[in-house]
Amino acid sequence: MSEILLLNGPNLGILGRREPEVYGSDTLADIEAMVAAEVADRGWKVVSVQRESEGELIHAVQDHYGTVGAIVNPGALMIAGWGLRDALASYPNPFVEVHLSNVWAREQFRHESVIAPLASGVIVGLGALGYRLAARALLAKVPA
Ligand code: DQA
Repeated sequence: MSEILLLNGPNLGILGRREPEVYGSDTLADIEAMVAAEVADRGWKVVSVQRESEGELIHAVQDHYGTVGAIVNPGALMIAGWGLRDALASYPNPFVEVHLSNVWAREQFRHESVIAPLASGVIVGLGALGYRLAARALLAKVPA
């Protein structure tokens, strides 16, 4: 059974009640269900990991190098998460970076991601739909 990694960084476990005007009303459980539904036909399972600290996220990446692809929302670690970036540099399969909000329309400090240069693609500003589209991108990128 193939698995994909759904990795979410700090403050994303409280989606639904975290600034809903910015991040929407879907919870992380809703997003997990959406991603699982997108990949079900391919027989993929979703391994969802959300952590508040960079070290735990690094462990999660290292522990899941065997997954066929990943969807990564690094949260604020996009800005200076060099350790997470290096863990993802060794990730052997495609991953898509997702941000719920349009980071380009927000504060300057959110305009650069240390993760993005390693990603197969980046989806920003589409809310929870971004995760679904990322799942579809992985379906297209990962050989059947
Ligand atoms: C975010 C954008 C980041 O800048 C922010 O720190 C987050 C959420 C998003 O999904 O829009 O935690 O990654």
